[in-house]
This record gives sequence, C-alpha cells and structure tokens, in this order.
Amino acid sequence: MANSAAVPEQEPLSAKSEGIGLSTRAGIVVLDFGGQYTQLIARRIREQEIFSAILPCNASIDEIKRLEPSGIVLSGGPSSVYDPDAPACDAEILRLGVPVLGICYGMQWMARTLGGNVVKAERREYGPATLDREKDSALFRGLPEHLKVWNSHGDHVIGLPAGFETTGRTDNAVAAIEDRSRHLYGVEFHPEVRHTERGADILRNFVFAVCGGKKNWDRASFIAETVENIRKRVGNAHALCALSGGVDSAVAAVLVHRAIGDRLINVFVDTGLLRKNEFAETLELLRDRLGLNVTGVNASERFLARLKAVSEPEEKRKRIGGEFIAVFAEEARRLAAESGGAVMPFLVQGTLYPDVIESVSVKGPSATIKTHHNVGGLPKDLPFELIEPLRDLFKDEVRMIGRELGLPEEILSKHPFPGPGLAVRLLGEIDSEKLEILRGADAIVVEEISRGGYYDKVWQAFAVLLPVRSVGVMGDFRTYGYTIAVRVVASEDAMTADWVRLPWEILERISVRVVNEVRGVTRVVYDVSSKPPSTIEWE
Ligand code: XMP
Repeated sequence: MANSAAVPEQEPLSAKSEGIGLSTRAGIVVLDFGGQYTQLIARRIREQEIFSAILPCNASIDEIKRLEPSGIVLSGGPSSVYDPDAPACDAEILRLGVPVLGICYGMQWMARTLGGNVVKAERREYGPATLDREKDSALFRGLPEHLKVWNSHGDHVIGLPAGFETTGRTDNAVAAIEDRSRHLYGVEFHPEVRHTERGADILRNFVFAVCGGKKNWDRASFIAETVENIRKRVGNAHALCALSGGVDSAVAAVLVHRAIGDRLINVFVDTGLLRKNEFAETLELLRDRLGLNVTGVNASERFLARLKAVSEPEEKRKRIGGEFIAVFAEEARRLAAESGGAVMPFLVQGTLYPDVIESVSVKGPSATIKTHHNVGGLPKDLPFELIEPLRDLFKDEVRMIGRELGLPEEILSKHPFPGPGLAVRLLGEIDSEKLEILRGADAIVVEEISRGGYYDKVWQAFAVLLPVRSVGVMGDFRTYGYTIAVRVVASEDAMTADWVRLPWEILERISVRVVNEVRGVTRVVYDVSSKPPSTIEWE
C-alpha cells in the first residue's frame, strides 16, 4: 500500500458504492476454494494498490457482479476436482468476459469445467520446483525464462480444454495455461507465496496487463471512500460504537467520527475481563488523545454473573457476545433519551477479515474455528444494523490506515486483545479470584517482554491461567497453586503464528516474578505450539 501521492492514475470513486464492507471498486474478486493461501492472494493484490475482496467459491453470479470486478482469481483448495463433493463455482464466471486466473485447484477446476482432463499425479509436487516458460504470455511479461516456484498439489492437468495452450511447465507437470481470446489463465503453482520467485510480478501482470486494472486501493482513497459510504448510509441518524481499547475499534470509530461527527457515540464497557488498569488508562487515551466522545460503562458484575459456572469456550463467547449487545442496547436507549429521543440504529464494530473467515463456514473454505464474539457470537435478533468498515482488512493494513488517520502509536502498536477478553485466557470456570491472579501474571509477562525489547517484535504476548493445581514449596511451606502458561507468538496476520524463541533470561525473569509476586501460582510453563495446529488464544 502506498500513499495517494504515488497513485496518479486514480479513478474517480464509484458513485454506485452503497455498502461499507465489500466495495464496488472494480477490483479483483478472489473466489475461495478453501486454500490455505486464499487470504494471501487478496493481500498481495492489495499490495499492488488494487482493491480485492474474497468471496466463497459458491457465491452467486449476482453477488460477484455487484462488485464489478475487473478480474477474478480462483484460489487453491484441499480437494480434488474429481471428488464427488468437490467445491465448484458457477461456471458462468468463465463466460462473463472478465479475465480469470485459476491458481492450483482453481486452474484444475477451470480446466475440467471447460472439457480438459485432470488426474492424480504420479509424482505429487510439494515445495520448490522450476518453471520453464513456453511461448509468450502476458502473465509472465518481463520475467526470466526459468523461475523458482512453490507447488502444493497432488493432481495435475493433462488434457487442455479447446482453445488453451501451455505457457509453462515444471519437470512433472503442465504449470501454466491460457486461452488468450477468452482471457482465461491458470497456474499450477502459488504466485502468492514468498517462495515463488517474482510471484508478486505474476499477480501484477494479471491485474494490470491482463485485467487492465487501475490503481484504486491506497490508504487515502480507502479512507475517503469509506467515510463517504458511511455518511450516505447513516444519513441523519446516530451510531453507537463499541470501543474495546484496541486498534481495530479505535480506527473504526475515527473513520465513523469523520463521517458523522458527534452523532457517533462511543461506548467502552468494562466487562471485568480486561487487563490490569486497562479500563482507566484506555478511557483516558481515547478521550484525551483521540478526542472521542466516550461513555465508560462498568458492567463487570453482570458479565461475571452471566459467566458463572460456564466452562465451555464457545458458550463463554456466546454469552459475552449476548451481554455486550444487551449493554449496548441499554446504553443506546439511555443516550437516545438523554439527547432528546435521537434514534440509534447503527452499531460500529472493528471486525477484521480474520475474525470473519474464522467465524463463518462456507462450503469448501475454512471451517468455523472459533466464534469471534463480534461476528458469529452476535444474537440473531440484533437491534442494530452493523457498520464494519474494516471487514476486508488484515491487522497490519488497519494499522496503516490508523497511521494515516493520525492515531497515536500507543494504540497502533498495542497487541491484539480478544473481544471476550480474559475469559478465553482463563480456562474453565471464571471467578474474580482467578481473574485477579491472571491479571497480575499477565501484567508481568507484558512488562518483561517490553523490558527485553520484544513487545514491538511479536504479535502477542500474554498469560493464560490453567485451572490445574500443583505442589510447590516456598520457604518452609508447601504450596498448592495454579499454573500460568506464557504465550508469545510471532505472526503476520494471525492466520498462522509461530511461538517466539525468547531468550532464557526473559523467561526466567517472568517465571521468578510471577511465582513470587502473584499469590496462588506455583508453576509457570511456556507454550511452544504454533498455529496451526494450535490457535493463538487457548479457548
Ligand atoms: P486465534 O486464537 O483464533 O486468534 O488463533 C487469532 C487472533 O484473533 C484474536 N481473537 C479474537 N479477537 N474477538 C476478537 O476480536 C474474539 O473473539 C477473538 N478470539 C481471538 C486473537 O487474540 C488473535 O490475535
């Protein structure tokens, strides 16, 4: 993403835009067959300053057309096209006249749908391979004849559909095909992963040389268009924003504030599940530094009451989501009454793309992993219409937007904190005594990670309380206390994450301080699991 100054040929913003999430900005639509790299495709395209949105592969033609795409990319996926329940798109997309690039499964689906032949490969290709180009192709314009590419497939195309020709091969397979007259392209490898040499150039060629895309995605135009869309949608009404103190909801609030000014009322709820001192400190930051009109609501008792005796993680998330909405609905009524009966039909949330993709299960794509409370945990009869201006973005993109909007670095660099807060870091049943222990341990973890110079280098660093008690000895006394797990992960976008190899000295300081300073803990362990197969949060 670059500054608007670097984008001279910007198109006028579409007058037809109505929604606030997915936009009709003549970008690229990525249809998701469930591949692990789908999000990366969308992101790499946005890095070319072209808007891109992901839709499930079974999206209807109308849904796709509504986005007026200048090109369509078909993602990879774990299935085989000849499986009985293999995911499929509406074949009509191949006849729209819009250029299509099929990647891996996407190429195989396109080839088979148009009459080509796809079979199980004798030698599966995973990992690096060399692409030898054949014939000239707009997709490979300006690139060398041989390229290192990254493969991940067990099937390959052996018979091309009529009109197609091969434009590249690896040792074992047809690796690139196209039908120039129908603007249909396919690659067997993954141009979106960093391991593919010049992969970004291949995607750039597709979006510019093949699709004739115009740069339309940069921070300034995203802000301008989003603000305009919100203004149109909200009209003269009021909106309520659920602030969490994190970067996502702060950026969402500032965008909506730009659109409707003081008709945006922000509510920051103390759920009793926040980190140490977080409520007071964040409230001050949001009011004084961001100049937002924020009402702080202390609702900790009612949240804890709702969570009493609940230990199942999804149940916790759902109850918290429900309670949030109840608190907001009450606040909306109270604030409306105070301001002379203003109606507040809109609720602003800082939902991001990874929250959506991990909460929504569509045929083919990623199954529901967790119900993120600001997405799947919402009750069906929501008394608000949602405004989620960041729904298509990744965290680092939101941070860039936030920087452009002038938000303070303290908010921008803050580690993500889940909506359900400490409830999903305190395993099993929640009570105020355990919450106090977890808060104390968490504060030490964050302090020592910051002191060691790691806070800005890692994605998240936090403590988890395990309701497992073990024996210890302090002075001459036997102790019997809880276990604190320390979780520190590095990640680009939370879709995958790796545990951080911290220096022993930092771990030692954390361990000594937690056991000495936090009453009720006898043991500290370090979590050495990556995502996948684990998730970042423990629940
Ligand atoms: P997981 O645990 O799914 O987390 O690997 C991925 C990222 O999302 C954050 N997270 C949440 N954020 N509401 C949120 O707003 C939630 O319910 C939620 N659950 C997880 C998590 O902290 C990590 O950064």
